[in-house]
Amino acid sequence: MLNKQNMTIKQILNNSVINNNLVVNGWVKNKRGSKNVTFISLNDGSTIKNLQVVLDSQAFCEETMKNITTGCCISVEGALNASKGSGQAVELTANNIIIIGTADSKDYPLQPKKHSLEFLREKAHLRFRTNTFSAVFRIRHALSYSIHKFFHEKGFFNIHTPIITSADAEGAGETFQVTTLRLSQLVKKNESIDYKKDFFGAKTNLTVSGQLEAELAALGLGKVYTFGPTFRAENSNTSRHLSEFWMIEPEVAFANLDDNMLLAEEFLKYCISYCLENNKEDLLFLDERMKDEEKNIKKELRSELGLIERLEFVVKNNFHKIKYRDAIEILKNCKPNKKKKFKHLISGFGNDLQSEHERYLVEKKYKKPLIITDYPKNIKAFYMKLNSDNETVRAMDILFPSIGEIVGGSQREDCFDVLSQRMDEMSVCKKELWWYLETRKFGTCPHSGFGLGFERLVMYVTGMKNIRDVIPFPRTPQNASF
Ligand code: 4AD
Ligand code: MG
Repeated sequence: MLNKQNMTIKQILNNSVINNNLVVNGWVKNKRGSKNVTFISLNDGSTIKNLQVVLDSQAFCEETMKNITTGCCISVEGALNASKGSGQAVELTANNIIIIGTADSKDYPLQPKKHSLEFLREKAHLRFRTNTFSAVFRIRHALSYSIHKFFHEKGFFNIHTPIITSADAEGAGETFQVTTLRLSQLVKKNESIDYKKDFFGAKTNLTVSGQLEAELAALGLGKVYTFGPTFRAENSNTSRHLSEFWMIEPEVAFANLDDNMLLAEEFLKYCISYCLENNKEDLLFLDERMKDEEKNIKKELRSELGLIERLEFVVKNNFHKIKYRDAIEILKNCKPNKKKKFKHLISGFGNDLQSEHERYLVEKKYKKPLIITDYPKNIKAFYMKLNSDNETVRAMDILFPSIGEIVGGSQREDCFDVLSQRMDEMSVCKKELWWYLETRKFGTCPHSGFGLGFERLVMYVTGMKNIRDVIPFPRTPQNASF
């Protein structure tokens, strides 16, 4: 029995067209009823809403009725009618049901009750079938689509930057090595490693960022962006870090830091608005879910705004801008610093901002998205443009309430001599990055860009509190299952 009309449950429910001969495929969420009539909630992933299937319990054989259990996959042929019950406009009266795939209720892990997110992480192969995760992944898709749409409409070109690279863009050295050398054998024989014999004839790693290559492209194509996987081997087992995450990195020629901030703010607002307009049902569900979840925590820790309210707030209000120097003054004199409540106390210029400081500024002080600029050169990457004070760089970090840093970017150092000196100071290998330096030798120009952590945006829009719950198969220290 094929789905002749090829209609999804979303289309069926949106159109509510009375139809005598419809075939619908999906997974059974729930079955209830009596000896005479049975109701099935059917879902096919196209929407958070289920289609109610009604059947005459006596009209189907015992085997079929027994096999219709939560989690099984069925194909239903029947007539779509106006529903007699409340809760749905239409229902499908089944004439024929085919069991496509059974799900033995003794073994099927997802029962129609609330499961913890931790439990569902261990069932990542099945969690797409839950309301929460299907909503999250539909929104993840919508955000991804809105990102491409935004840049396309603005005349940017999408560039695919390499995943295997010999460069470490951020210079932090937290990379995953890529090799075909049999390292354990070399170690056993106590041989030193000759990377000329490695697959690429050089030491290579998985990329931590596509920025350096995106810069090359921008200095020819003008406006480009990347959207790819990035890999970081930092041992941060937090709710906001992944070892493999997706990053969007626009890079724009003839743009300074102010242009960069404007672009980032417009971009974030565009993507959030897109979801508000196109994912209403999923957002309403997640809004309720967040309220429910927060019932279990102390009142003062609960969000002041509901999920949808806070998304609308971001879209309607300007991001607050502040320089690093001013942020440090505020932090130095704030209560938690004076009362030594911060784990890392702020003593003055030069201190790196930890997430506790970022959260204080964004959640307690300003209560809105915040852009911090002009950080000390020593705590930022070598490629950021040096200010005339010779101490700070044209960097920007965007912080969001409950997320912390969501965007990191800067104007780039476009002067060959300054860049060359910064690379020396920060021990970045100029020989390896000869191609990057050459762009400053041949037709250099001011340019800027930033990186948005895709999963952090998905967290913000869905209200999920752990980054492991917004990527289908999270990779974190000690975990690469599925
Ligand atoms: O601030 P980061 O390290 O900046 C860069 O990589 C620059 N090359 C970007 C650029 O200017 N083109 O990372 C950018 C963003 C962060 O703000 C954060 O949202 C996210 O990437 N991010 C992570 N997300 C999940 N897990 C991790 N381990 C992350 N590390 C960074
Ligand atoms: Mg950063």
